[in-house]
Amino acid sequence: MTAGAMEVPQVMNVMGRQTMSLNGAWNYIVDVQEEGYYDYRMNPYDWGFFRNAKPQKPEDLIEYDFDKAETMQVPGDWNTQDERLFFYEGTVWLKRSFDFHPQEGRRTLLYFGAVNYDAHVYVNGKKAGHHVGGFTPFNFDVTELLKDGENFVIVKVDNKRHAEDVPTQIFDWWNYGGITRDVKLVSVSSTYVESYQLRLGASKNEVKFSAKLNKAEAGQKIGLRIPELKINEELTTDNDGTACITLKAKPQLWSPENPKLYQVDIVQGEEDLKDEIGFRTIETRGKQILLNGKPIFLKGISIHEEKANGGGRCNSTEDAHTLLSWAKELGCNFVRLAHYPHNEYAVREAERMGILVWSEIPCYWTIAWTNPQTYTNAERQLTDMITRDQNRANVIIWSIANETPHSAPRDEFLSKLAKRARELDDSRLISMAMEVTSASNYHNKLQDNMNTYVDVVSFNQYIGWYRDVNDAPRMTWEIPYDKPVIVSEFGGGAKYGLHGEKNQRWTEEFQENLYKENTAMLDKIEGLAGTTPWILKDFRSPRRVLTGIQDYYNMKGLFSDKGEKKKAFYVLRDWYASK
Ligand code: GCU
Repeated sequence: MTAGAMEVPQVMNVMGRQTMSLNGAWNYIVDVQEEGYYDYRMNPYDWGFFRNAKPQKPEDLIEYDFDKAETMQVPGDWNTQDERLFFYEGTVWLKRSFDFHPQEGRRTLLYFGAVNYDAHVYVNGKKAGHHVGGFTPFNFDVTELLKDGENFVIVKVDNKRHAEDVPTQIFDWWNYGGITRDVKLVSVSSTYVESYQLRLGASKNEVKFSAKLNKAEAGQKIGLRIPELKINEELTTDNDGTACITLKAKPQLWSPENPKLYQVDIVQGEEDLKDEIGFRTIETRGKQILLNGKPIFLKGISIHEEKANGGGRCNSTEDAHTLLSWAKELGCNFVRLAHYPHNEYAVREAERMGILVWSEIPCYWTIAWTNPQTYTNAERQLTDMITRDQNRANVIIWSIANETPHSAPRDEFLSKLAKRARELDDSRLISMAMEVTSASNYHNKLQDNMNTYVDVVSFNQYIGWYRDVNDAPRMTWEIPYDKPVIVSEFGGGAKYGLHGEKNQRWTEEFQENLYKENTAMLDKIEGLAGTTPWILKDFRSPRRVLTGIQDYYNMKGLFSDKGEKKKAFYVLRDWYASK
């Protein structure tokens, strides 16, 4: 990292700040052997592609030229923009030139919504910083690296998989590589509001606001304005640069039926940070989940962050609206955003549409539990997920893992994460997708040491698909924990338009029957507070190679990738209508 540039804590709500978008066409160079980063002795060298060097004299040897290279759209993955890169996992360099005029007294942060997976970031040939993790935001203060006039940003993106990564080497979704979410230059004053929290206080007749500056500066004035609630308060920061206040107020409560959001202004110096925030309570009581004090059944569906019609990673309100509208057609009031934090547009669009959210970090399958860097990485992703979405009323569950094999190192790793999540946000429910993979004599019992660390016990089960076909009607369930239960996955595959007997795999009739049997079985599970069947739409996976049926798609969608409804869609819709 060059002197002058530094990673700074995630700046919250970039959508409400003064920004300059760097989205658009970026030149790219595919660098399979990382020629642009390592010399032929595999040592990182100082004259890599990040220099964006140009021949100065006729005899100069520069063996790359971004400006002659092809372009791809950012935000976007490379797999669906260049067919040569459909299966590609490796390094791609991306470059964007732009004009910039520094403003007196302002700092400039270079913000990425997400880059999958490993990003080395350079501004005007100098290192701004490095980030790993493909689904959470990060930003660098690059004020000193920018100049008046033409500037350029270069990012070395590498999506190769490694055992110590999060997620680890194998996962059942497409490893879309690239700068997959927005890139922005965020203009802030030297002292700015880094993060804030606004929610109901101890009772529904008060709201609690707290804000944190980027510096431990006392005496700074922060204004809170919520016109509809006739709130117009001024707070003063303490020695840590934080301020908080609890105010009498009786806001309408956010709920799926009434997704009420309030216009909020947070004013500090010349900054006026705008946001839309809803107020609600979420808690458990025994085996019930209570939203605003009333028991709720979570009619959910699992979703991957993938556009329909083979379009790659979602990264806009429109992309989200399409998928969330399909969920609404199912009668859903809840979605499980699997298995990683989805983009902020999706979470905010769900909030406007009255859809509750389960948000998850990709501690998926066989994580390297004993590797300290792996834990640091996972905790960083958890922290960044919670920091970004902590003011979203519709986000009710933080999930720390999916289908992880039982072991003492796993329990230690995940219990630390669960505690950290509670420290960061004690106002939401903690869960994880456990699993029940077998029954003895048709009796299924959930057993997981992590039950003590979560508020909601959730598990995946695939009766009718990976096991016990047609035995769902005979199954009994035992979940020996006095906590609400969510069946976070069940389902089976079908190819849209393929018809046949209900015992014929891959037909719509097979999937339809599986849903009939599973929903009837779920009705018998004591304490069932919700479910998120696997999955809304067929999605790409390198693990699904059955020619003519899967063709690199996981076919467990209730919708095809083109949005065609399979017969099972109607089974779930009608079941939810009955709830
Ligand atoms: C698992 C896993 C999913 C996967 C699904 C399947 O439960 O959590 O990521 O796609 O099963 O096998 O289809």
